[in-house]
Amino acid sequence: MKTMQKVLVIGSKGMLGQELVQIFSEDKNFKVISWDRDEVDITNKKELQEKITELKPKLILNAVAYNAVDKCEEDEKEFELAKKVNGLAPGYLAEIAKKIGAIFVHYSTDYVFGKEMPKIPEPKGCTGSCGSCGLHENFEPEIGFDEEASPAPVNKYGESKLLGEQEVQKNGEKYYIVRLSKLFGKPAQSKDAKKSFFDVMLEVGKKNNPPAGGVKAVDEETSCFTYAPDLAQKTKEIIEAEKEFGIYHIVNSDACTWFEAVEELYAQAGLDTKIEPVSGDEFPRPAKRPYFSVLLNTKLNPLRSYKEALQEYLKSEKLIK
Ligand SMILES: NC(=O)c1ccc[n+]([C@@H]2O[C@H](COP(=O)([O-])OP(=O)(O)OC[C@H]3O[C@@H](n4cnc5c(N)ncnc54)[C@H](OP(=O)(O)O)[C@@H]3O)[C@@H](O)[C@H]2O)c1
Repeated sequence: MKTMQKVLVIGSKGMLGQELVQIFSEDKNFKVISWDRDEVDITNKKELQEKITELKPKLILNAVAYNAVDKCEEDEKEFELAKKVNGLAPGYLAEIAKKIGAIFVHYSTDYVFGKEMPKIPEPKGCTGSCGSCGLHENFEPEIGFDEEASPAPVNKYGESKLLGEQEVQKNGEKYYIVRLSKLFGKPAQSKDAKKSFFDVMLEVGKKNNPPAGGVKAVDEETSCFTYAPDLAQKTKEIIEAEKEFGIYHIVNSDACTWFEAVEELYAQAGLDTKIEPVSGDEFPRPAKRPYFSVLLNTKLNPLRSYKEALQEYLKSEKLIK
């Protein structure tokens, strides 16, 4: 019989953290210890070190986040906090995990990309300078950032998350850095929890159902949605399969813009609300967003489409019949 593995989930009341707790708790081979802000401040290295060394978990999952993208763009103090929570603290955790021989999982984001567009792959045999070699016919490559692409963020939040990746790589040993994008799922349990995009747009859509008018949605920022329970499940699979340590991209399939996602949402919810595609300039925000930040998963079996996951979410939360 396998011995029970102690798993520490930090940020356990967050949108992702609560799903990690759920998935690992369902398996008798794991004993889950859940910490959030009340149990530990991850920016306090000494406290972290003492508490984790005493607990001696075999696996540490860090689902803590500073995610006020606009606030940290404008306010220097907030940016300092973002760098501590998203940047330095993951490095402390990686170092502690190394000392006690634990596996460490840290989550990052598509926002580490965006300054440059991804490379467009050429078909095999094409020199890249032809235009008429004939090899391009029926060649439909997936376009996006793979796990090896060089990060180049467009905003300060992205910089803080990139710092986190670098600190984990510098200080860690047995680690997984898992990038995801546009997380959705049950709202977090923590007190200041933000609603995810689909919850917000569903409310807006219901209010603006005909004849009340329509809604505008940005037809830009193409990337993939990630359903929190799917990500938690895949995290467990990586651990159990003892995949090679390193960077992974875990997102649901079917990249889309915000506008396309709202179209799908309203179709599933049976709403006739009119949706107008607009450019990002219609909703000016302090922090720039990547225009295109599709993450390509080249190392794992792909996750299902976000459309299927969305339907499961809406049904499970009784938001649709
Ligand atoms: N949400 C997205 O769309 C998205 C996109 C890409 C990547 N990600 C990444 O996915 C991971 C999970 O994000 P999430 O959206 O699930 O986060 P979340 O719902 O905001 O949860 C984060 C949790 O961490 C806690 N926390 C914050 N600062 C802490 C500190 N100093 N010490 C201890 N706990 C602290 C929060 O408590 P309070 O609520 O009290 O602050 C909250 O319970 C993060 O790495 C995030 O960067 C998220």
